[in-house]
Amino acid sequence: MTDKTSKLSPIRAAVIGHPVGHSLSPLIHRHWITTYGLSGSYDAIDVAPAELATGIASFVAEGYAGFNVTVPHKQAVMALCDTCDPAARAIGAVNTVVISGGKPHGRNTDAAGFIMNLKESLPGFSFTDARALVLGAGGAARAVVYGLQQEGVSAIRVTNRTAERAQALGDDFGLEVVSWDEKEAALSDVTLLVNTTALGMTGQPSLTLDLSALAPGAAVYDIVYKPLMTPLLCAAKDRGNPIVTGIGMLLHQAGPAFEAWFGIAPAVTPALRRTVEEAAR
Ligand code: ATR
Repeated sequence: MTDKTSKLSPIRAAVIGHPVGHSLSPLIHRHWITTYGLSGSYDAIDVAPAELATGIASFVAEGYAGFNVTVPHKQAVMALCDTCDPAARAIGAVNTVVISGGKPHGRNTDAAGFIMNLKESLPGFSFTDARALVLGAGGAARAVVYGLQQEGVSAIRVTNRTAERAQALGDDFGLEVVSWDEKEAALSDVTLLVNTTALGMTGQPSLTLDLSALAPGAAVYDIVYKPLMTPLLCAAKDRGNPIVTGIGMLLHQAGPAFEAWFGIAPAVTPALRRTVEEAAR
């Protein structure tokens, strides 16, 4: 145990969002608090955008170890942090705040979570030879692209319904931009297809994408985890392509945050994965 976990006062952490009731983070962090027998808490706290600055100030004043940040605060919280790590700066979003020395410090663990899940799900996946096509150009796409580039993937193409956003992402990260209408043709030489759009999520339209041109060995990764098996993943699985589901990204982005606050690197066990999959249904 580290100094942090041996302190007598309980360690407090939270997730802030607006709304925040849908967040699965309390389930994950409370599971680890119980598993490791820690004296601590993890709450879901609704913070309206107008209350963000005062909300963060009160977390600092109340001695919180830190908090996760979800929609719609991931960008706005950056300006309220004393420092932001390189991932947060490159991605342009903070999903984890660590309070130390009486100051909030922003981090982004989404990229690391995306990569850890890929490595865990497809241990043989070669990053050095990878050619990726990323669908979408929002905050999640930025985290995915950053993570892939950190692993040495140089051939990354991006496509998005709104061409200007694809171009902005392409310019920021030095990517080839493919028009949304030509994404199927761009499948032919990719080794990794990643969906970061909302398409396929429960309540959203399906992603319409004919996978015929995709090589049989190409991996298909959907970061949407509700449902776990999106129509894209079902189609990829049916034709025998290796697939990666999105729930592991959620679990693995939580691990580094938990470690920063509670001082223990938590395990993403099959039992935890099943519990969270069940809750996400
Ligand atoms: P996140 O932070 O999760 O990436 P976001 O910034 O709102 O959220 O981005 C959502 C992504 O899903 C965008 O790429 C968006 O495309 P646009 O930039 O064109 O809006 C994509 N998306 C959402 N609904 C879509 C739809 N019906 N068709 C195509 N793309 C869609």
